[in-house]
Amino acid sequence: MSETRRTPWWMGATVYQIYPRSFADSNGDGIGDLQGVLRHLDYLKRLGVDALWLSPIFRSPMADAGYDISDYCDIDPLFGSLADIDRLIAEAHARDIRVLLDFVPNHTSDEHPWFVESRSSRDNPKRDWYIWRDQPNNWRAALGAGSAWTWDEHTQQYYLHLFLAKQPDLNWRNPEVVAAMHDVLRFWLDRGIDGFRIDVIHCTGKDPSFADDPRCQAGQPLSDFNDQPYSHEVLRGLRKLVDSYPGDRMLVGEVNIRSTERVLQYYGAGDELHLAFNFNPLDAPWDPVLFRTCIREVEHWLQPAGAWPTWVLSNHDNVRQRSRYQGSERAARAAAVLLLTLRGTPFIYQGEELGLEDAHIADEARIDPGGRDGCRAPIPWLAEPPHDWNGTSPWLPFPPDADELAAERQVGAANSMFALYQRLLAARKASPALLHGDFVELPSHPEVLAYRRQLGDDLRLVCINFAEAAHACPQSGDWTVEIASDGLGEGEPYAGTLNPGQALVLRPTEA
Ligand code: NOJ
Repeated sequence: MSETRRTPWWMGATVYQIYPRSFADSNGDGIGDLQGVLRHLDYLKRLGVDALWLSPIFRSPMADAGYDISDYCDIDPLFGSLADIDRLIAEAHARDIRVLLDFVPNHTSDEHPWFVESRSSRDNPKRDWYIWRDQPNNWRAALGAGSAWTWDEHTQQYYLHLFLAKQPDLNWRNPEVVAAMHDVLRFWLDRGIDGFRIDVIHCTGKDPSFADDPRCQAGQPLSDFNDQPYSHEVLRGLRKLVDSYPGDRMLVGEVNIRSTERVLQYYGAGDELHLAFNFNPLDAPWDPVLFRTCIREVEHWLQPAGAWPTWVLSNHDNVRQRSRYQGSERAARAAAVLLLTLRGTPFIYQGEELGLEDAHIADEARIDPGGRDGCRAPIPWLAEPPHDWNGTSPWLPFPPDADELAAERQVGAANSMFALYQRLLAARKASPALLHGDFVELPSHPEVLAYRRQLGDDLRLVCINFAEAAHACPQSGDWTVEIASDGLGEGEPYAGTLNPGQALVLRPTEA
């Protein structure tokens, strides 16, 4: 792979999240797999992304769709084999696309041999690999809606699980756990993985006093706010290990705390996360006040600290952005312009580039214990049902308008949502200002967000109209429309107004 770049690759990259169960199915069992991903690498190259993050593909009883792992160093047969991931890494690298895996350090499956041993007797050598207590406290689990403690009849103690009872929490204060989990990272780094998305990293440190928490009393799960100093020590160990490998390996962490100031702490002194997810835009409606506030927060906290931001509008845990924006294609298009022009590393969730909405799933057909099935609907590749999902029907129903929004219809079609993402990604790559430049918010109408990105001589303006009415957005100087969310007027001089709901990327008009 081409390697010598001035800044680390992940600062100029766009990352694409693959939720393997729902991406593409190669063997007709209705569940996506690694061969399915391999088949669509050229699609991802054509889209223009630089890296893939694969949600968990490891051996798992699938109580939490793979976030309950029973073997960190093997691929679940549902998804394929170690040979398949090796091929995927090689084929992605051959296309200059990096591959990130999902690392789940906070908990294993209760079927992991470590936990099977741990629960076998109180004096088992692995007893202390998990968190056992005689008495539960009031901590609440995030999945399964109840206590974070489950009674083990056999050994007459409670074990801690911040998620499902089938996801016991590891005890990261035990050095043997640290060593075993470091070995997991080594296993994958040695195979050529470019880095990891780390699941709920802020949960790995627990309050050592196990005191009751008033927020749990009020019904909030501990994982929503657990933020103990020890998580940072865990993270520094992971970072040191990853940094000892050649080739710019990267850690992006899920710090699911809705405070940008707290999230900043997880970048450490350049010795913790390279990138941390920023959750505020992920559940926000399409609202100029919310986005403005969120962007200002990020600039206020992260910029002075030299912490590089991330931008994410959808993932496998949250309602897709287009559904949050009441199904509005116009808003989804404008949001794409925002996502791909802010200062930071954008993450695209599979299907976002097709403008997909959540599938409508009847309550009785829901599979996920957290009710998150809608955003996990399968990707429609071909226009004709079953949309290249052969054999039995896929594990979840398709999203609305699957025929019309299928990749087959959009790839190569002028001004499709896919084409807009393609144009934006190409424009990012060609502009140092968009990739690495400063961000300055410009004065504008309250329903318009306008900002400048600049690096040296390279300059772009971005104007986003959140309103249903046209708005003036005058800018001094001569500007050319480089990209329009609705495709209108690209390559033409900017007249100083925005159509209803329109977002524009402007470049200085060449003399
Ligand atoms: C966050 C993951 O994104 C989510 O899908 C999972 O249920 C929890 N962590 C527990 O691993």
